[in-house]
Amino acid sequence: MTAVSVRVPAKVNLQLSVGPLRDDGYHDLVSVFHAVSLFDELTATPADDLFVRVEGTSAEEVPADDDNLAARAARLLAERIGVRPAVRLRIHKAIPVAGGMAGGSADAAAALVACDRLWGAGLTAAELAELGAAIGSDVPFALLGGTAIGVGRGERLTPVPVDGRFHWVFALADGGLSTPAVYAECDRLRERHGEKVRPPEASDRLIDALATGDVKELGSALTNDLQPAALALRPSLRRTLTVGRELGALGALVSGSGPTCAFLAESDAHALDLAAALSDAGVARSTVRAYGPVPGAIVV
Ligand code: C5P
Repeated sequence: MTAVSVRVPAKVNLQLSVGPLRDDGYHDLVSVFHAVSLFDELTATPADDLFVRVEGTSAEEVPADDDNLAARAARLLAERIGVRPAVRLRIHKAIPVAGGMAGGSADAAAALVACDRLWGAGLTAAELAELGAAIGSDVPFALLGGTAIGVGRGERLTPVPVDGRFHWVFALADGGLSTPAVYAECDRLRERHGEKVRPPEASDRLIDALATGDVKELGSALTNDLQPAALALRPSLRRTLTVGRELGALGALVSGSGPTCAFLAESDAHALDLAAALSDAGVARSTVRAYGPVPGAIVV
């Protein structure tokens, strides 16, 4: 086999409920992940050694060395099946870097699927997900795609039934936010406000809205516990969200740990208008439209 290409989607969290800080430094979560049609593409080809090249949007902000999550995934899989990680990974990025849309996790998921095929490993979906969880909490979802509830660190997944397709506009920001920094700010804000942190639960309202395809209900059921922390670290996002709501978004929230903001539109046509209006309002570096749910990492 000479080359394997894998397409992998970004995610937005429709619900992100953050529980108490655990002893291992992670937080117990209830996360409703939703895969959207904004894709990175990774191509794996045989080589003498492990090489990574990143191209596309903000490629220069992605590490191309040993820290690259796709490289780590390839190395982990090679170790697991007892081969040398002799592969060249070319990553074409469209998912914003450090944007709260799990772009790094997506590339790790793509590398697992591509190298599994290239090396004829034939691991099961569950085995790949287990390797993925060792790389990052969002990697198992990038493999699965669709819409799913994640518990634990977010790595233990159950698919959620969805009726139809939802249309989104994403407002991309200048520069990323560090996920650990946003979680730490969330803890700090909670402590400062003397907030009692309860074990998180999935929202029945949200799950019902997804099952019935009720877009208005979905818009008003979107929640993200990391949003106050992201807004504290990047105050300009407050205006981005307000303007999006004023322009008619059915729901507006920070995506994951941010700084990308997600706006739910009523239809594809509405998303087109909303994206143009957000761009005109000058509240984002750029905007991009996408729909969800879409499948996880697949060979193309
Ligand atoms: O799992 P991943 O490496 O993507 O997580 C990045 C960071 O995000 C962790 O080091 C931790 O600070 C934070 N995190 C968390 N609780 C989770 C997931 C991530 O605190 N459930």
